[in-house]
Amino acid sequence: MILEIKGLDKSFPQAGHGRVEVLKNLNLEVHEGEKVAVVGQSGSGKSTLLSLLAGLDRQSSGSLRLRGQEISAMSEKKLTQFRAENIGIIFQQFYLMPHLTALENVSLPLEMFGHKDSQERAQEALQQVGLAERETHFPHQLSGGESQRVAIARAIVIRPAILLADEPTGNLDNATGVQVANLLFDLVQTTGMTLLLVTHNTELAQRCSRQMTLHSGTFQ
Ligand SMILES: Nc1ncnc2c1ncn2[C@@H]1O[C@H](COP(=O)(O)OP(=O)(O)O)[C@@H](O)[C@H]1O
Ligand SMILES: [Mg+2]
Repeated sequence: MILEIKGLDKSFPQAGHGRVEVLKNLNLEVHEGEKVAVVGQSGSGKSTLLSLLAGLDRQSSGSLRLRGQEISAMSEKKLTQFRAENIGIIFQQFYLMPHLTALENVSLPLEMFGHKDSQERAQEALQQVGLAERETHFPHQLSGGESQRVAIARAIVIRPAILLADEPTGNLDNATGVQVANLLFDLVQTTGMTLLLVTHNTELAQRCSRQMTLHSGTFQ
């Protein structure tokens, strides 16, 4: 088992009105190599769930274990290291660094931790997303689809155990979105990575091996 969520709750403070409960008693088990989609309407808590999984925010209560390790028990420092080694993340917005080339964007997660072969591995990752010839381009010189492919290369360059994706085609036109999704699923297939994808796009979700529907903060 790679991921185990038990009794997960997340609430946010509301100005003057106590707290709003976004996730309520969520349970989920994901096995290695599974492709799981979490679907649900806008505001159902999909991105909140992903933030907790990525260790970008902390749950209110409940347990969240990745590779057998309790994420909420980790210090910020430990979490940073753990995330850098195990978790690849792709967002709807590409979040590329505007002043770094495609290659520099992709090598950054490795350079932060002083990998010796970061350059070679970044080149390899760009090759895997079909952008070897775009190494020296800056984000403003890339199309939306190319930018998301660079973001995918940056996510997989660490060879993550799990890839988290939040509406990865949400900012792309239909045709480009399909191309990027094809690439994403091909990569997941060939590398054997576990995928957890959150989306309101049912076509995208249907490409996963399992779908969970989030409604009013719980799985239906
Ligand atoms: N940091 C936050 N503070 C307060 N409320 C938040 C915060 N993040 C998300 N929410 C609320 O949680 C609910 C779920 O949001 P989100 O997880 O982004 O939904 P989804 O990704 O499914 O569209 C929304 O009502 C949103 O306003
Ligand atoms: Mg969202």
